Amino acid sequence: MEERLKAILLSYEGKTDELIPILQQVQTEFGYLPEEVMLEVAKFIRVPESRVYAVASFYAQFQFTPMGRKRVMVCRGIACHIRGASRILDEVGRILGIKEGETTPDLEYTLETVACIGCCALSPCMMINKKVYAKLAQAKIRKTFSK
Ligand code: FES
Repeated sequence: MEERLKAILLSYEGKTDELIPILQQVQTEFGYLPEEVMLEVAKFIRVPESRVYAVASFYAQFQFTPMGRKRVMVCRGIACHIRGASRILDEVGRILGIKEGETTPDLEYTLETVACIGCCALSPCMMINKKVYAKLAQAKIRKTFSK
């Protein structure tokens, strides 16, 4: 981990305003913000550790726990809600054995919800990484995860 972090920090000068770009690069490299890495980042830019946590927790883009290789995002927007988003979320959670915000122990899937995927006419929808799954029904969901 140290070598990967050193490689990231090489392109920065240690200025306070570099915090967000550094955290973004750390997140890209590690998939989340490991605690020990945030400590090192705080030392590097010479700010209290609490400031790094405060900034990181303000932005939804930063994760504090490892994410699954596949991010399942069930839409909970109004159109999807009307057409059964709660049932979709329950079914996906039941199949994967996790709840919203959790990751499977094998780090294969993380289950999340989103406000709108942008294809409301095809609701209910979910995304797995960048692929959209539309007009979902329980059978279609089971088929999606049985591959
Ligand atoms: S509300 Fe679900 S795609 Fe827009």
